[in-house]
Amino acid sequence: MKVGILTGGGDAPGLNATIYGVLLRAYQEKDIEVIGIKQGWKIFTYPIEEIPNVKKHYMEKLDIGELDDLHTRGGTILYTSRSNPFETVTKINDPKEKETLQKKIALDLKAKMQLLELDAMVIIGGDDTCGVGAAMFKYTKAKVVACPKTIDNDLAGTDYTFGFFSSAQLASNSLDSITTTAHSHQRIFVVEIMGRDAGWLTLFSGLSSGADIILLPETPFDFQRDVIDVLRERVKAGYSYHIIACAEGAYPSMESLERDFTVVSAEDIHNLPLDSFGHPALHALKIADKIAKQIRKTKDLQDTFEQYHVNFEVRSVVLGHTMRAGTPNVYDRITGLRYGFHAMSMLAEGIYGKMSSLQGTQIRAVDIEVGSKKKFVSPDSDLVKIRDAMVDVKYKSKEKYFL
Ligand code: F6P
Repeated sequence: MKVGILTGGGDAPGLNATIYGVLLRAYQEKDIEVIGIKQGWKIFTYPIEEIPNVKKHYMEKLDIGELDDLHTRGGTILYTSRSNPFETVTKINDPKEKETLQKKIALDLKAKMQLLELDAMVIIGGDDTCGVGAAMFKYTKAKVVACPKTIDNDLAGTDYTFGFFSSAQLASNSLDSITTTAHSHQRIFVVEIMGRDAGWLTLFSGLSSGADIILLPETPFDFQRDVIDVLRERVKAGYSYHIIACAEGAYPSMESLERDFTVVSAEDIHNLPLDSFGHPALHALKIADKIAKQIRKTKDLQDTFEQYHVNFEVRSVVLGHTMRAGTPNVYDRITGLRYGFHAMSMLAEGIYGKMSSLQGTQIRAVDIEVGSKKKFVSPDSDLVKIRDAMVDVKYKSKEKYFL
């Protein structure tokens, strides 16, 4: 059996560990050959007649003997891309027309798989990359399995995606570090954290580092109540620096946007560019910068700071791709190895259309279609309650000692 393996979407620490897990399990079978497919779904976006010509640039046999300890390395040896073979579908609104085109493309992808002489595939990716595999299986019963990757942790089919904890740790370290310069200059820092429209990374790193305000996409904020009033109370309580952990997709409520913001409008949000999967590029709004600008313009807050002889200086920082960089931590190495190992086991056992899923401490199989749906932070979760309790106690507890 010839098994193709690809990594798609934004890279995440643990991709190589997952590839290694696949290879380790394949090595136990006598008749499985693993072929690395480079740059995600890109080769599948070529017209079928061009594929024989470009094939050599995108495919390479993987030999485990030459990839010793691959699970310890960051990035992905297969390269990645956000190529979407279903891109044309994202531009169609009519559900019937959408489905017809989706089916046509899925059949085309299966034909391309045959042309590439692949019997089966392991797809390593987030909701978009795995969504392509889900559609292939739905319409053609192609022999595909998937592994849940993303620093954003926004996949419904698993407790935690690999990549998430390495990235959350990097963000938490940065938030810890930034407090020293914030303290020296008595500054407000608005720190923007990746995660698209899900707040997992901001919530975990914000809580872990004790950020003073944590803004999430799942709980649209009220600028006056959740930012300005909190900063004012903190200054009155004796604090001279403040860290705001802000998800790149954390936007104000519509009411607050219209009432409190002059530096960004609903139209700016509405007009954000779309990516190849049809999602708005939320980071393009640069929300941390907007919040910083709006804080600077808040005269009565400045007056309070001056009254308490605290500097009124605001800076914004975008952690950006530094959060995805470097080697995976222990958790992501082990989880990646397990996801990959189990995915290859599925293929060896003739199980298709499934995704490796962490459920508690066990790896199980869930349908790719279900597993690759989105998962958001629930506003009712204990984590959000802890966030709110932390913000409250941050200034109320200090009052006794400083006033
Ligand atoms: O989905 C992973 C992610 O890192 C998001 O958190 C972020 O919005 C996006 O990818 C960045 O994409 P790119 O690497 O294409 O700039």
